[in-house]
Amino acid sequence: MQQNPKVSTGSLRPGIRGFTSILALLVIALGWLGLASGPAAAAGVGGGAEITFGYGPTAKALMKNKVKITSVAPGTHSASSGGRVGVELPATSISEAVFQLGGGIQFSRGSRSVSATNFSFIPSLRSSTITGRIGTRELPIFTVSSSPFSDSEQVAITVPFGRLTLAAGAARLIQSRLGAGRIPGGTIGGLSALVTLPFEDPSLDVCAISAATRTFSQVPVAAAAPDLVGPSVLDINSAPTWGIKASLNGYVNAFNRPVGLGGTTVNPFPGPPNPASPPRNYTFVSAPGEYAANDSSTGYDDQAVINSTGGVMYCNTAHGFRITISEPTVVIDGSASRIIANVDTNLSANPLSGVGDWMPSQRVNLARLDLTGLPAVETPPGTVKWTAIPAVLTEEGSDALRLCEVNVPGAPPNCLYPAGTALDPITVTITYPVG
Ligand code: HEM
Repeated sequence: MQQNPKVSTGSLRPGIRGFTSILALLVIALGWLGLASGPAAAAGVGGGAEITFGYGPTAKALMKNKVKITSVAPGTHSASSGGRVGVELPATSISEAVFQLGGGIQFSRGSRSVSATNFSFIPSLRSSTITGRIGTRELPIFTVSSSPFSDSEQVAITVPFGRLTLAAGAARLIQSRLGAGRIPGGTIGGLSALVTLPFEDPSLDVCAISAATRTFSQVPVAAAAPDLVGPSVLDINSAPTWGIKASLNGYVNAFNRPVGLGGTTVNPFPGPPNPASPPRNYTFVSAPGEYAANDSSTGYDDQAVINSTGGVMYCNTAHGFRITISEPTVVIDGSASRIIANVDTNLSANPLSGVGDWMPSQRVNLARLDLTGLPAVETPPGTVKWTAIPAVLTEEGSDALRLCEVNVPGAPPNCLYPAGTALDPITVTITYPVG
């Protein structure tokens, strides 16, 4: 990673004050990605800056002095009409929202030339600074008057097109190195930038499939769990237990084995411990939920929202996939009963490559629960139980799991798990204090 000694966290603070939202998001993202000190990202920083030189008083002074502008590789340039020069500089690295640009700008006049290189773009609201090196001197070279922003999904930093100003100190240095007449600091052109941020599979330490590419889901986000309507809504803390899908447990158990995440218990079938036997089901970690013990006078059946944290990771490095299902919420709500969960996948087109296409976590309606003819059994007092509620995969769940996209040699050729695929039935038990 390119280092610029001028760009320390301390010197950044004033500029960052108006830029906290981007910085906070990026610090979280970069920390989460382990980029601050960890291994290189699977997909590195991309994009870069586009500069147009040739308008404003400083550009006029350069023209008057017959100063020619070109790029330093790996930057590229092209001349356009009216003496304008377009320069493209690639982004090479990023740290705490400050990104470096490769190559540089060469100013030449007759047989003399001077280059500005090692650019660090320090984003700040309204006016960002680009520091760099002219000869051996590190100094602020340009400012850009526009307000950079990053999107909520941490994909990119965008610097909208803004006026590019050559700093007075840099202008003086260029003037003296070129032996030119007066070149004042001031407007020299315009700049825009789009820098795509590095990313990595967040589970790489547990499941060795790196993220070469990233695809964002088009699946609709799950509707929020309902507000319970009964007269006696109780707070509950009941951990859901669910097997998800027995055949998937069996398939993955022959490889890296399903892994319980964040305190989730992997429950074996009864009998002597046997690693060859797949898990029976998983008990997630209970989180506050609600139960409405409605009676016939309300016109509503019993309702419940059973929240949880934790998750299950299906990792199969030999076949090149990881599927993580986490934070399931079981909603008992008549015909709208369902299981909502976060689904995060990384699927490889070539299992030997160790890299895949990562689809970041999305909260979806994973399963539809059919409570038809299944009454709530309310004994002993303080316990409500629905036994073996049939569960089927929803269309959103099927899309989120991406198993109909699998087209890898050796894998079954047909769509694995289309909408309507039977999942494990779920037994829901709610307990609440009585008396
Ligand atoms: C992105 C890659 C892959 C994904 C997401 C994937 C996923 C799955 C899933 C979900 C099943 C059905 C499990 C069930 O019975 O419920 C399955 C079955 C199977 N897969 Fe894969 N698979 C992938 C790659 C591969 C590869 C590369 C091979 C072979 C080299 C393979 C071989 C098989 C076989 C033979 C079965 C059926 C037999 C069984 O259930 O064990 N898969 N796969």
